[in-house]
Amino acid sequence: MSVALITGGSAGLGLEIVRALAARGWTVVTDGRDADRLHSAVAGLAGDVVALAGDVTDAAHRDELLRAVTDRGGLDLLVHNASTLGPSPLRPLETMRIEDLRTVWQTNVGAPLVLTAALLPALRAADGVLVSISSDAAVEHYEGWGLYGASKAGLDHVTLTYGQETGLTAYAVDPGDMRTQMHQDAFPGEDISDRPLPETVVPHLLGLLAVRPTSGRYRAADFAAPAPAAPAPADLAHVVAEGV
Ligand SMILES: NC(=O)c1ccc[n+]([C@@H]2O[C@H](COP(=O)([O-])OP(=O)(O)OC[C@H]3O[C@@H](n4cnc5c(N)ncnc54)[C@H](OP(=O)(O)O)[C@@H]3O)[C@@H](O)[C@H]2O)c1
Repeated sequence: MSVALITGGSAGLGLEIVRALAARGWTVVTDGRDADRLHSAVAGLAGDVVALAGDVTDAAHRDELLRAVTDRGGLDLLVHNASTLGPSPLRPLETMRIEDLRTVWQTNVGAPLVLTAALLPALRAADGVLVSISSDAAVEHYEGWGLYGASKAGLDHVTLTYGQETGLTAYAVDPGDMRTQMHQDAFPGEDISDRPLPETVVPHLLGLLAVRPTSGRYRAADFAAPAPAAPAPADLAHVVAEGV
């Protein structure tokens, strides 16, 4: 049995990763701050999903996540997906107050840093993979995206330094633009219907995990979806017997 912790699994990309892994037989622990939204999002999912409402910046909630993972004996995959844009609409750096940094840095960098530390024994036990969902804003310099982009650059750095320090396989992954609430918040009032849905990104993430390249920063789009598993011999016999 494989175990994953995906933060921010009540909506957007996180929910689609949870859905895909649970459907493939993984046990998935996930969270989100809005308890009602989290529980209704995972209610209809096939598979073993453990949904714990809470905020990744809250130490007591992170302890709950740790207990849920430890109870399951090891952690094969940790995905830091929960994230915040910061003030919306996006605004230039010169308008930022020090208070604006607090939530962005604690959510996008601080929580992944300390949650990874807490989960290192479980990741090591399973030779697990550490994935942080990054952004092109971590390496490009778009007007208004400076605070969020700097936090994603920081997240990349923390993630890949963990790879160096621990020997664990670690990835910072740019998923590309997606039609989600976060993207809408970045472009309030604009039509974002031309952006791909988050479920279209998941096969590429699964492709990355299947290839398991060396630790580093990657674009999800650069990995093809894994080929469907060939039927086992027993299944083939069934297919032949059924004349399908
Ligand atoms: N959408 C894009 O175009 C795009 C592009 C590049 C990178 N990304 C990255 O992709 C990832 C997923 O983004 P998305 O667009 O899918 O976002 P989304 O639709 O806004 O979903 C974010 C999820 O994270 C949860 N969350 C947010 N803050 C949290 C916190 N402090 N603690 C626990 N859960 C929290 C949210 O639930 P609650 O609000 O209830 O907590 C929700 O389940 C993020 O890392 C984002 O930076 C997105």
